[in-house]
Amino acid sequence: MKIETFALERWMTRWELDVAYDIAESGIYPMSTRELIDLAPAGERAELLDTLLDYRLGYSEARGSAGLRAEIASTYAGANPDQVLITTGAIEANYLLFNTLLEAGDHVVAVNPAYQQLNSVPKAIGADVSLWKLREENGFRYDLDEFERDLLRPNTRLIVVNTPHNPTGAMLTDAELDRIYALAEARGAWVLCDEAYRWLDMPDGEPLARPIAERGPLGISVGTFSKPFGLPGLRIGWMVAPEEIVAACWGMRDYITLSPGKLNDALSLHALRHRSQIVTRTQGIVRENLAVANAWFDEWGELVGWTPPRGGLLALMNYRLDLPSSELADKLAGEYSVMLAPGSAFGFEHHLRIGIGQRPDLFKTGLDQTADCLTTLLRDGVGFRDV
Ligand SMILES: Cc1ncc(COP(=O)(O)O)c(C=O)c1O
Repeated sequence: MKIETFALERWMTRWELDVAYDIAESGIYPMSTRELIDLAPAGERAELLDTLLDYRLGYSEARGSAGLRAEIASTYAGANPDQVLITTGAIEANYLLFNTLLEAGDHVVAVNPAYQQLNSVPKAIGADVSLWKLREENGFRYDLDEFERDLLRPNTRLIVVNTPHNPTGAMLTDAELDRIYALAEARGAWVLCDEAYRWLDMPDGEPLARPIAERGPLGISVGTFSKPFGLPGLRIGWMVAPEEIVAACWGMRDYITLSPGKLNDALSLHALRHRSQIVTRTQGIVRENLAVANAWFDEWGELVGWTPPRGGLLALMNYRLDLPSSELADKLAGEYSVMLAPGSAFGFEHHLRIGIGQRPDLFKTGLDQTADCLTTLLRDGVGFRDV
């Protein structure tokens, strides 16, 4: 398969180990293994640790352990464990699904801007991809009328959405997902909903919509331990789909990663069983950073602006200075030790992607450094662009 470069990953890889203030990150400040173990009640920790230390590290069950699949299935109304496939992150779930569901020439509607995989893999397969654009002037809302009127076709094979959305923090409501599902059903199209940001509703914000997999057999949900749980290093994600789709994806995965890491599977199960504590941790971080970010955008409103995320933890901030986002992002990283991802990686010039999941003290200093960089550029003669 010939596929275009994953622009954001290339850029992040260049800087992520060198910067002190990574405020572009797409997840929550990661948990340590100790913090994860400490979620167990004090009286049970020693036994849990012993169990993990004595684990025989043979190959694990290829679909993911029965325990983990059952626990995940229990979070989707009506799903059974055979509808769950554990994958190497949500990225593998998406990849398997695109390659299982699509053939060259199939028509796909996919959200854009996007976690690039959601656009690039269908294109690389040879699908005819219509981009469903989220626009800043529209508050980064999904326009359902445009979707129905201009993008859907009688032969559309797959609709790809992501809610809450990377990189804008857009959300689809329950009613909107119902409408998308009904339109898909009328055409026999699949709906792949990337729900990597599930459980990341904004503190005091709108509730998240029910997963698409609960709406009927054409709805496929993808999830992960990376974002809401702060456990991206486990590399554990999943899909919830009809059994025949899970079986086909499993068959393809035999050639790629075969099975999930056994210890990671066990740690993921432990995390899921204690998710209410993890969600409390996550919401604490997001709440604190959101307040700091809102105050910062108020203070520097002449230079920057944003649409705060409705869900998840990501947003695209715009800036008024007249220089390309890749240049600004490189300068921030190289000279100010701040990582804010260039909007150009999402086709959004004069924007930077910001994530509000970082450790709050680092997040705040990162914003202060960013203001320092922007005001220095202004003083050094970089002008405002026309808007
Ligand atoms: C929307 C979306 N889907 C999938 C992924 C992949 O996540 P992972 O493979 O770590 O589970 C990401 C990561 O940033 C994402 O933002």
